[in-house]
Amino acid sequence: DKPLGVAVLGMGNVGTEVVRILQEHTADLAARVGAPLVLRGVAVRDLAKDRGIDPGLLTTDVHALVARDDVDLVVEVLGGIEPARELILAALNAGKSVVTANKALLAEYTGELAESAERHRADLYFEAAVAGAIPVVRPLMQSLAGDRVDRVIGIVNGTTNFILSAMDETGADYAETLAEAGRLGYAEADPTADVEGYDAAAKAAILASLAFHTRVTSADVHREGISSITAEDLATARAFDCTVKLLALCERVVEDGTERISVRVYPALLPLSHPLARVSGAFNAVVVEAEAAGQLMFYGQGAGGGPTASAVMGDLVMAARNKFFGGRGPGESTYAKLPIAPMGDT
Ligand code: NDP
Ligand code: HSE
Repeated sequence: DKPLGVAVLGMGNVGTEVVRILQEHTADLAARVGAPLVLRGVAVRDLAKDRGIDPGLLTTDVHALVARDDVDLVVEVLGGIEPARELILAALNAGKSVVTANKALLAEYTGELAESAERHRADLYFEAAVAGAIPVVRPLMQSLAGDRVDRVIGIVNGTTNFILSAMDETGADYAETLAEAGRLGYAEADPTADVEGYDAAAKAAILASLAFHTRVTSADVHREGISSITAEDLATARAFDCTVKLLALCERVVEDGTERISVRVYPALLPLSHPLARVSGAFNAVVVEAEAAGQLMFYGQGAGGGPTASAVMGDLVMAARNKFFGGRGPGESTYAKLPIAPMGDT
């Protein structure tokens, strides 16, 4: 079968795991897609770093990599607005499928990017942009597309939840725990985005846009971070059987008879009995309230290279299937014939 060429832009926390999965699970991925996925190149800034892959795959010429004729699918895990925006547009304008984890970019430019994707009948997928490994973008975009979502509330930043949980549960130091979140690959390149709530606000904008079928950008989100939360605040909360969590809240509100969308990110006092109070470490959770579905809760690892790469790879397989099947979805050939264990063996 004709292979599909993949370019990975960025080989940091997320890109490293994406490349590993592409290289270690080549046969499984080919079976699921229907055609082999071939890594054509990986864009980085520093060619001197040892990355444990064939150095011939590495390039600093990220524009040339995206433009290659043998690249069908582009994974953008560089971060930042430029050059990520212009690279994604270049890929979509050339009819290539794009998978991105870049919430900061999406929270500002989803409109422009989605318009380009539609005009060129190209796929733009971004499950990894909100809550790491947790499938929440696709459920909002697809599974709940026929329902009316009233409210989305969640913990959508792993770094701040890691810090708040550690301070609350073990009395850990704020600055040391933030540094640890950086070492573990949870924090953004500039962790101000995490602790001041910009990252959660970007995710809240994306969630609100999907939930309410509208366009919400970061500028529409009321934002407060956790940098002023002290050990004393957490101890006081504990004394009242509460804890502090950085929440993202997206809801429909009626003001003066007019329905509006309200999107807020702020550190909130939660009773310990609340399901979100029990979300610890770099885990995230998102609760969706919809008219017909009622309450749904999504929970899992919200940050880190592996969990984020899981979501990226899911999107990549979907985009590759669409390319291979011409948008018709998977056929029987994508299902592996695995041996069935005899009853009673497991
Ligand atoms: P890192 O900072 O670890 O990695 C960024 C990578 O991009 C590096 O390999 C860097 O090269 C490369 N790069 C950056 N700019 C350029 C450029 N102009 N040209 C070529 N290469 C470039 O980021 P992460 O992997 O942590 O995050 C990537 C994206 O995923 C971001 O948008 C982030 O917000 C998002 N994300 C991250 C999550 C996480 O838990 N880490 C979770 C969900 C989303 P070099 O290695 O040479 O410096
Ligand atoms: N810095 C982000 C976080 C990465 O801590 O949640 C996942 O989007």
